[in-house]
Amino acid sequence: MKINLALTAPSQIETECLVVAVVDTAEKSGNGANDKPRPQILTDDSAVIAAAADLIASGEATGKALETTLLHKPAGLKARRLLLIGGGKAMSFSTSDLRKISGTAVRTVKGKDLTSFALASPAGVSFSVEHAVKSIVEGAYVGSFDPDYYKSDRKEQKIDELVVIAPAGSDAKSLQAAIDIGTIIGEAQNFTRDLVNEPSNRMTPTILADRTRKMCDEVGLQCETYGPEKLKELKMGAFWSVAQGSPDEPARLIVMRYEPASAPEKPVLGLVGKGITFDSGGISIKPSDGMEKMKYDMAGGASMIGAMRAIAQLKPNVRVIGIVCATENMPSGTAQKPGDVQIAMSGKSIEIINTDAEGRLVLADGLHYAKQLGATHLIDAATLTGAVVVALGMVNVGVFANDDNFYNQFSAALNASGEKMWRLPVDDDYREMIKSNIADIMNTGGRWGGAVTAAMFLKEFVGDTPWIHLDIAGVAWMEDNKPWIAKGPSGTPVRSLVEFVRELGAKS
Ligand code: BES
Ligand code: MN
Ligand code: ZN
Repeated sequence: MKINLALTAPSQIETECLVVAVVDTAEKSGNGANDKPRPQILTDDSAVIAAAADLIASGEATGKALETTLLHKPAGLKARRLLLIGGGKAMSFSTSDLRKISGTAVRTVKGKDLTSFALASPAGVSFSVEHAVKSIVEGAYVGSFDPDYYKSDRKEQKIDELVVIAPAGSDAKSLQAAIDIGTIIGEAQNFTRDLVNEPSNRMTPTILADRTRKMCDEVGLQCETYGPEKLKELKMGAFWSVAQGSPDEPARLIVMRYEPASAPEKPVLGLVGKGITFDSGGISIKPSDGMEKMKYDMAGGASMIGAMRAIAQLKPNVRVIGIVCATENMPSGTAQKPGDVQIAMSGKSIEIINTDAEGRLVLADGLHYAKQLGATHLIDAATLTGAVVVALGMVNVGVFANDDNFYNQFSAALNASGEKMWRLPVDDDYREMIKSNIADIMNTGGRWGGAVTAAMFLKEFVGDTPWIHLDIAGVAWMEDNKPWIAKGPSGTPVRSLVEFVRELGAKS
């Protein structure tokens, strides 16, 4: 996708399709039923307003979120078509809404077999043109991704050109920078989605490691990938306990390093991802219904790989280490069994109650190893529990933190990313739920608070290091098509990770 900037009035742009946002300015009257929408087109261009006047007057275009209305041969415009896309209530219109409008534009335009369009940066909004342009670019990448890789009649539908229209007189240089940053982030998110989309027979730990190494070579990151021997040498007994069940598909420990020479010694951020390329549950095997979804159990790891890619390209002035613990979780003659006791790399002993609680096992050693490699701050991402989906549905990431400062710093990045997250507790009152009779801890905490007890387990391995845990089980995979994004891998939380590291690198 070629993305070009135009500092021209929207009405003067020659394009297959001019896309403009429309919002609803009606305020709540209080009595509900009579709240008639009052749509307003977010442009200063009177020719565009005039061209859309009939659509607005007819009541067809209301400004409702992601509603699309198409007009052919709009009078007075150089565009062949005018597409209005709803942004919801004017009062709350944000970069997040704009990102979705852009994704919706891509999906709508593609659906009409067009290959180019122009999107007008909205006028009269509460955020800067730079932020608008970056969101438009990111949203366009979100909308571009299609998961239908293996359909033999796959239509290679692509948008070849997107023209982002900004007001005349804008600072072209800073807007081009916004396009470049948005492109890097958008491509990184889709890089992650590409990895997650592949089924487990085509995304084994070995393939994941090879793809990561190739990416690292391309963007200039240091990368090491290790096999089972290294896990044993490092005494990663928790990671190995999962990997031992897959002798035919060996585990991989992936380490990526971004160490700019000019960056201060500290902080060193460790990004640790769960990379279970298929989670059958192991001996505590999962029911077959829905098991096919467990190919996306490496989404946390893939997110770290995508984030590292963007970090290498954006070059923030901060050190970052990415670690992915990649393995299958399979039942086999060599698989671990419920009741087994394992010794993690940190020396803690773990009683295995359920072999399906494997993510926390691989992360326990990944987090410990990140600290050993020098990480002073830790973030992990994992499709860790079904319980977080029960708690938060498919809307919010469950976020856990042992340090309020670190959490506050991280959550500041969510405004920029537009990814939704909700904090859940990790106080010591929950600790007794994972106490074991025979060992230091057990790998499950019983029925209640399953997302919290999983986080409590991880907390055992981070010590005093500021740490954030992202349970992305509910959001890593879109269960339905949405106007702005296809059903399939979402690439969450790549954008938040990258925004956070950009902030961190700007400060240090
Ligand atoms: N990978 C699953 C969690 C998951 C569930 C991810 C749904 C995506 C969608 C994880 O390894 C798992 O199996 N967790 C168990 C833990 C339980 C055995 C304590 C769960 O949540 O049921
Ligand atoms: Mn599992
Ligand atoms: Zn899992």
